[in-house]
Amino acid sequence: MTTSQSDASVNPELVADAVVGLWQDPPVLPAKWLYDKRGSELFDEITRLPEYYPTRRETEILRGHSGDIARHSGARTMIELGSGTSEKTRLLLQAFSDRGGDFTYVPLDVSVEMLTSAAEQLAAEFPAITVEPLHADFGDPALSLAHHRGPRMAIFLGGTIGNLDTGERADFFRRITGALRPGDFFLLGADLIKDSGRLIAAYNDRAGVTADFNRNVIEVLRTGLAARGLYADDFDHIARWNPAEHRIEMWLRARRNVFAEFGTIERSWTLPKGAEILTEISTKFDLDTLHDELAVAGLHRHHTWTDQAGDFAVLLSQVAG
Ligand code: SAH
Ligand code: AVI
Repeated sequence: MTTSQSDASVNPELVADAVVGLWQDPPVLPAKWLYDKRGSELFDEITRLPEYYPTRRETEILRGHSGDIARHSGARTMIELGSGTSEKTRLLLQAFSDRGGDFTYVPLDVSVEMLTSAAEQLAAEFPAITVEPLHADFGDPALSLAHHRGPRMAIFLGGTIGNLDTGERADFFRRITGALRPGDFFLLGADLIKDSGRLIAAYNDRAGVTADFNRNVIEVLRTGLAARGLYADDFDHIARWNPAEHRIEMWLRARRNVFAEFGTIERSWTLPKGAEILTEISTKFDLDTLHDELAVAGLHRHHTWTDQAGDFAVLLSQVAG
């Protein structure tokens, strides 16, 4: 197999993930490829859907406790992993801004258009805060946060932790501990286990926005790998509850025999009608397990808040000294 070096727009990470993932059985793609410009806009739309409760629940918690979080952490730098629009983060930024003093916000995301526009808006809205956007992958083992002024607080909101499997979560938490300094803080938003009917509805909304969000990854593959014979409309969106792993799984099921040719990697790919690609997992948690996972990585429990309905949790932990 050869990789085209001539086209500057070819993303070697997409090539690598496609080559590793698409030829597996079942085929799988890392969820980060859902977030090109259109995918990020569709996710933003998802956050306002009646069925998609997590954003509203987490906002409720942050509205009630951002002042507490600012006070407990005393952070001078806040680094947000997978920041997206930074919409809910405004509550935390306001709380830190109200405390006064120098404060730096570092939104970090793979979705460069969303990151840039959010950072510009925030810099205008919060003139007292220094906004330093960082286009990066939060899974990068070389990620370093300790050069920012302390005390630091890394935040990971929205339940994005659920998009990592058990092994990826353990690596991620360990890397957070390593990237911060003892005494720094880590704020985590996590969606909790609940009735599977509500969960499936949240990932298979009536308006079909989540279906478009899921199918958009086919467009990312088509354009990114110069594919012929690959069309988003040839796939159905599937959202399935996996009770053993307590997670929602998003799949794309082929509506016909797919035969695609990827110009970029000079390979062809087939998927028989009815076969599926795994595009995202969204794990739901019980709090004890999550506290244990954090503690194993050296992140000690400091405070935990849930919304009134008990749907979502925000956990503040501190890096062990
Ligand atoms: N934190 C926001 C957005 C959640 S959506 C909220 O709570 O609403 C997940 C975000 O993580 C998207 O903006 C996506 O672009 C980003 N993302 C996904 N995988 C990523 C990765 N590996 N590295 C960095 N950002 C990633
Ligand atoms: C970003 N992440 C937490 C969302 C979730 O709920 O797992 C992504 C998403 N996928 C479908 N709907 C929303």
